[in-house]
Amino acid sequence: MKQVLGFDVYGTLIDTHGVIDLLEAMIGHSATRFSIAWREKQLEYTFRRGLMGCYRDFSVCTRDALEHTAQSLGYSLTENQFQILINSYQNLPIFPDVVSGLEKLTKTNCEMYAFSNGQREAVDLVLENAGIRKFFGETVSVDDVKTFKPSPKTYRYFMEFTKSNPENAWLISSNGFDIIGAAAMNMNTLWVRRNKQVVLDTWEYEPTDVIDSLDHIVEYIGV
Ligand code: 2OP
Repeated sequence: MKQVLGFDVYGTLIDTHGVIDLLEAMIGHSATRFSIAWREKQLEYTFRRGLMGCYRDFSVCTRDALEHTAQSLGYSLTENQFQILINSYQNLPIFPDVVSGLEKLTKTNCEMYAFSNGQREAVDLVLENAGIRKFFGETVSVDDVKTFKPSPKTYRYFMEFTKSNPENAWLISSNGFDIIGAAAMNMNTLWVRRNKQVVLDTWEYEPTDVIDSLDHIVEYIGV
């Protein structure tokens, strides 16, 4: 049976902390703290909007989170700085293991999709700019179902869109909440744990497997 792989984008293929250099030039030594807070707030907004049924697309969550982070950490970014940071989201870097891992998969029979909270055009652009759009079929965006991961609707939609089912559908993600969300829908899951300090929530769901680099992915899925 053909395996159908859904790759999470932000945090798994694309490094959202690729903004740290830019931030350093703007605010100095708090850049890492700022970047972490921005990302956490962005995800919090997706969770809250999902729960409230008040969907606005991912770029709105990203902008609102940037505004809140700057305010709460006491920085007044200029309009220009704000725009530079927002624009940087189109040019974020990939993690170093991404190209080699995806290249190995192209020699298998697997179907590969990007599957993201981001809107299709935004995801296509960041993947294109990073040089990895070519590895994937059509991008699967939660924007089509107007809610965010880890809503069950998003994983169901992935399987509908790709004509897969819990037997052959995989989610590949570094985001623990994403892994648990897909596992709860009985999808196969590969948790990409590049950093040993990151731990998975001790819930009743476990990933099918854990890898420390996408470089090893064919050993787990490759058929
Ligand atoms: C993504 O869906 C969760 O931000 C992550 O791309």
